[in-house]
Amino acid sequence: MDVFFERKSVRKYLQDDVKEEDLNYILRAAMSAPTARNARCYSFIVVRDKETHKKIAEVHRAAQMILQAPLAILVVGDESKVFEGYLPQDCAAATQNILLAATLKGYGSVWCGVYSNDERSKALEKLFLLPSSVRAFSIVVIGKSADNSAPKNGWQPEKIKYEKWS
Ligand SMILES: Cc1cc2nc3c(=O)[nH]c(=O)nc-3n(C[C@H](O)[C@H](O)[C@H](O)COP(=O)(O)O)c2cc1C
Repeated sequence: MDVFFERKSVRKYLQDDVKEEDLNYILRAAMSAPTARNARCYSFIVVRDKETHKKIAEVHRAAQMILQAPLAILVVGDESKVFEGYLPQDCAAATQNILLAATLKGYGSVWCGVYSNDERSKALEKLFLLPSSVRAFSIVVIGKSADNSAPKNGWQPEKIKYEKWS
């Protein structure tokens, strides 16, 4: 499988659960992402509880697909551990690794943005009882895909410049 080109945002899921060994692979991939000065400021909250999924859907308008999915991972970053201001970059790299690892293991997934929406972040920080230095960054919803559409073709050669802008 060519994981980069197979990945797509999936918002329809089957009921099948995410296997524990696959979840561990996905989390290991997340923790293998690069972080500024190896600060590893991230943590991951695995959420299977349907009541919590409902609460997430209440505070995140664009995460309604979570109501059908078996699992979500909340990616968070600790401001007291991060190097300089690199929390969003560290957490974004981890989030992307989650998406790619999930694709590789045969799951659909979607990145639901939290950072830098203050209202969403605050609501999730409250819901998940995060310590005061820990920011909610993203929610990745994961499950067996019920979406047969083809991934988008992202190739746009005009986005590439060589040596200078013009
Ligand atoms: C920072 C970020 C935030 C996103 N937030 C949401 C979201 O809240 N809900 C959602 O359904 N998709 C969300 N997405 C997924 C994008 O809509 C999706 O990646 C984009 O439309 C391209 O489609 P593709 O992922 O299938 O290539 C987000 C993606 C990123 C990178």
